[in-house]
Amino acid sequence: MQRHKISVIGAGNVGATVAHILTSMDLGDVYLFDVVDGIPEGKALDIQEGAPHWGFSGRVKGFTTTDESKYSNLEGSDVIVITAGLARKPGMSRDDLLEKNVSIMSGIGKNIKKYAPEARLVVVTNPADIIAYALYKITGFRPERIIGLGGSLDSSRFRTFLSLELDVSPKDINAFVLGGHGDDMVPLIRYSSVSGIPITKLLSKEKIDEIVHRTRFGGGEIVDLLKTGSAYYAPGISITAMVKSIVLDEKRVIPCASYLSGEHGKHYGAEGLFIGVPIKIGASGVEEIYDIDLEGEENELWKKTVEGVKRNSAKVDEILSKSK
Ligand code: NAI
Ligand code: 2OP
Repeated sequence: MQRHKISVIGAGNVGATVAHILTSMDLGDVYLFDVVDGIPEGKALDIQEGAPHWGFSGRVKGFTTTDESKYSNLEGSDVIVITAGLARKPGMSRDDLLEKNVSIMSGIGKNIKKYAPEARLVVVTNPADIIAYALYKITGFRPERIIGLGGSLDSSRFRTFLSLELDVSPKDINAFVLGGHGDDMVPLIRYSSVSGIPITKLLSKEKIDEIVHRTRFGGGEIVDLLKTGSAYYAPGISITAMVKSIVLDEKRVIPCASYLSGEHGKHYGAEGLFIGVPIKIGASGVEEIYDIDLEGEENELWKKTVEGVKRNSAKVDEILSKSK
């Protein structure tokens, strides 16, 4: 049996944080890639030097990809986490990053396809649902192998705010957020509970509305506080949950951006898009997509988020067709 190999492309705030968490949990060897000379090597070495205290037995290595041949070190990756690209600054939406980040993905996707054609991809770069779609188009991978971060983080924020309000352990809060990873995401109150007790029995409508609003704008709240970039600690652990479920074949059910086609595409009215829905994550990637029923206002919100994702996915098609 070999150790798992997890590669992380983009060794910035999120990439380095996720590498740090992955190694602290001893989930496998971690390889970091970035275009800025010395950054991936330096951060990898720094993380490796902490291993004796953690009892981490794997290797952490870094590679600067201005020399594209360094991407050959992706070979044999079980999972590749993609965090490369621009992050938001105050006043920017995730969609403002689209054009630049899609063009960055063209080079990265080509190298993933060349060196790690069997890897599962966890796509973090924003707008994550749309970048997942771009990487699907660029790599031609089976869509089950591509999962976008969104719901995993948004649900973590939703559960956190509920736990703070109710003063109960976040572990006992079951709640999820679907849709695009943007301000029109859909936190689902009807499916949210504290150990099975519906949150509507524990909190007033006003309080729930306040928490839903805070969840939707949770990413922006951090951007406004930091001023220099966006969140990375909660994203780091939300990504790790997804990676861990793949490498340990945990089969966890987490809302993430995944490709909808066939019956699922029809059920959600989102054929051919990557968008956040509850999925089972296992060794092969997306192992099941759950078609949950939406009612009334949930449906209206869902249609709105689908429209946004559809519009941006069409932009990706346009950008990629121009670059051919
Ligand atoms: P950062 O600016 O700290 O790091 C980005 C890194 O990407 C930099 O080190 C940069 O040198 C590198 N990079 C740029 N072009 C590259 C290329 N062609 N090849 C390899 N590396 C390249 O940004 P941060 O905070 O780490 O965020 C990264 C991305 O993740 C952003 O797009 C951000 O919006 C997104 N994000 C998405 C989340 C989600 O829930 N989907 C959560 C948190 C961040
Ligand atoms: C967030 O929600 C940056 O999209 C990222 O914090």
